[in-house]
Amino acid sequence: MTENIIPHSHAIKLEDRVKKLGFKPQLIWFVGLSGSGKSTLASALEEKLFTEGINTYILDGDNIRSGLNSDLDFSDDSRKENIRRIAEVSKLFVDAGTVVMTAFITPFEEERQKVKALIGEENYTEVFVNCPIEECEKRDVKGLYAKARRGEIKNFTGIDSPFEEPTNANINIPTHQMSIEEGVQKIYDLIKEKIKS
Ligand code: PPS
Repeated sequence: MTENIIPHSHAIKLEDRVKKLGFKPQLIWFVGLSGSGKSTLASALEEKLFTEGINTYILDGDNIRSGLNSDLDFSDDSRKENIRRIAEVSKLFVDAGTVVMTAFITPFEEERQKVKALIGEENYTEVFVNCPIEECEKRDVKGLYAKARRGEIKNFTGIDSPFEEPTNANINIPTHQMSIEEGVQKIYDLIKEKIKS
């Protein structure tokens, strides 16, 4: 399908943007069960970076799934396509000079590896928002675990759909054992080093 597609090479390169912006773009990919704290951490980290003048943007499960990926369900194949599209969108943001934060369950290791390969290892930071399912279920902020237990939602991650725990994450944040502030600070310390130009 891409046989006759010849990409255009643009005059302004990423190096030019980095020089102008004073920081290197980065994709910060939050991985974790529903209710683990991905969006909360991403949002607090964004606030911290944004107030320092860094261009940031968050791509989040619920907003992408109600727009760009509204045609996808929660089958394994749809989850893979969901992640593939988000990775491509993230790549454009990174290329435009943005620190992008994504908050998607991303349950499969193979897909996480594909994202890393697409973005390039030096531009990619994987954050495992590591919270046991018992705790996520206790929080049940959206009431989805209760629905899944009643059989009203099928293919719910951690219940009747798999979650492969990340073993290659750059950083592990156990949200049941530390405060949001502590978690954000840990990620911030790592990111500040990586985006230094
Ligand atoms: S995935 O697996 O990465 O494609 O999932 P993601 O795009 O992050 O979407 C997860 C959010 O969708 C809601 N939701 C479900 N999650 C898991 N399994 C099922 N079946 C499901 N149905 C709806 C849920 O609110 C997730 O949001 P978060 O922010 O993770 O709690």
